[in-house]
Amino acid sequence: MLAEVGEHLTTALTDDDLATPEAAELPVARLLAGIEVASDGPGVSSVLSAFAAAAPILRWVQTAAYKATLSQHFLDNYGYVRVIGPGGLVESSEVSAGLGIWGAGLHYPRHEHPAEETYHVLHGAADFRRGDGPWEPKAVGESVHHEPWEHHAQRFGDETCVLLWAWTGDVAVDARLIPDED
Ligand SMILES: [Fe+2]
Repeated sequence: MLAEVGEHLTTALTDDDLATPEAAELPVARLLAGIEVASDGPGVSSVLSAFAAAAPILRWVQTAAYKATLSQHFLDNYGYVRVIGPGGLVESSEVSAGLGIWGAGLHYPRHEHPAEETYHVLHGAADFRRGDGPWEPKAVGESVHHEPWEHHAQRFGDETCVLLWAWTGDVAVDARLIPDED
């Protein structure tokens, strides 16, 4: 999935037919400029480079329900682009995959969605919590899997965190926060 996402981003830079007509930047896109693309993790650096280059022509979005719930600080430091999926660079109703950014120190409260999910850490580091389990640290090159409807939360480290996510199953339904967050 890493290579596929990187390839679509690279193509978007040269193929007008692929580039989304509704390109829109969010404040969080500024954090990409501060990212140092290192060579750690197989395939990671090429995807990050393509992401940084394509950032201005992508449609940056936030989960709609989060805008009414999460703090302005969170919203200024969070956003994602859908590369494959409904409304993505490459349309699909069966898979949804893209790249998201979370600023240093953010806490992404517990949430859930019907799609099965895999996250890949591309930059920075994060602690992931599944259900009521322990917080598990994940670094560049590592991945995390969430079952459909499994509650999960993230705490981000001292650096900007970039994650690739991939959904399968019910990809049309957005994530929602779990109200009784502790
Ligand atoms: Fe998720």
